[in-house]
Amino acid sequence: MTQDLMSMYLKWYELSVHAVNDYRVEGEISRELIEGLVLSGMGGSGIVGDVIYSLLYDKVDIPIITIKDYSLPKWVKKGWFVIAVSYSGNTLETIHAMTESLRRGAKLAVITSDGKLLEYAKTYKIPFIKVDEGYVPRAAFPLLLIATLKILEELNLYNASKFYESLGVLNDNKIMNVADEISNFVGNSIPIFITNSKYYPLGLRCKNEFNENAKLISKVEVIPEWGHNDIVGWESRYSNVKAIVLNDGSEILNYVWKHLRDYGHEVKNVEINISDDYLTNIIYWSKVFGISSIKLALSKGINPKETKSISKYKEFLKHSKLARINFREKM
Ligand code: F6R
Repeated sequence: MTQDLMSMYLKWYELSVHAVNDYRVEGEISRELIEGLVLSGMGGSGIVGDVIYSLLYDKVDIPIITIKDYSLPKWVKKGWFVIAVSYSGNTLETIHAMTESLRRGAKLAVITSDGKLLEYAKTYKIPFIKVDEGYVPRAAFPLLLIATLKILEELNLYNASKFYESLGVLNDNKIMNVADEISNFVGNSIPIFITNSKYYPLGLRCKNEFNENAKLISKVEVIPEWGHNDIVGWESRYSNVKAIVLNDGSEILNYVWKHLRDYGHEVKNVEINISDDYLTNIIYWSKVFGISSIKLALSKGINPKETKSISKYKEFLKHSKLARINFREKM
């Protein structure tokens, strides 16, 4: 029997503990010094790259980029390490980026549950972690994130033990009430998430959750850039736009939410620092906002799990020129 989306989110603690205990890299990760790191992936898989980018921003001496596209920048070449993340393993953009990385002689690791990515990883002896099947990509976030952290640990780029020790926050009994408050606040509005660069991945995750689960248009804005353009748009009034400030307690985010309130907008200021561990805050609030978007969908009689338009788009891609580039020919 297929699981409903809410049940998947409610299992995040168990899924996380399982991933921490049981996931292993199949194959050997090269220990050679790397010149840079690429995280490739789209949507619910791609968000992992955004999180890792922000996590390592002030921690490593090599450049890190996220790629959400078919091609890689020219300067990614031999010496670089590429982590390709695709839950289904069949996302065309990620397959292309992986192919291109191999062709350029970059080192690779793959994170997937199945599909072409798994097939290619086995065929071309690329190290991989196979995550559990049976979820939708956005609900598999803890699995994809922890699998990626395992690769980073092998590369000696990060030690996630503090995060693993804090996973109990996922069982916090306040989650359902906070999720309710947020879904009641959003109601029929267009939610705009505003946060800082560090928490951009969380803002993006929240936006994506309201897009995919509640079938709403939603946007994310990031300070300090927000203060140089978008802020002016808030001088006007809108009947159905609400702001949600993901506030890590910084002076500037406190300024932002008060500024919006003073301009008469409906703003929800969410204090997101439940821990001093970045990843703990990310996973906790991803669960809260995920559940709140599911609750909102259910309250409107919408199926939160179904993403018809994404399937339609992928079907279009399958028959597009891009899909006709044969992977093996490119190698
Ligand atoms: C669906 C979802 C999408 C997918 C995206 C890429 O739950 O979240 O955003 O993640 O279409 O597909 P995958 O993750 O299979 O590479």
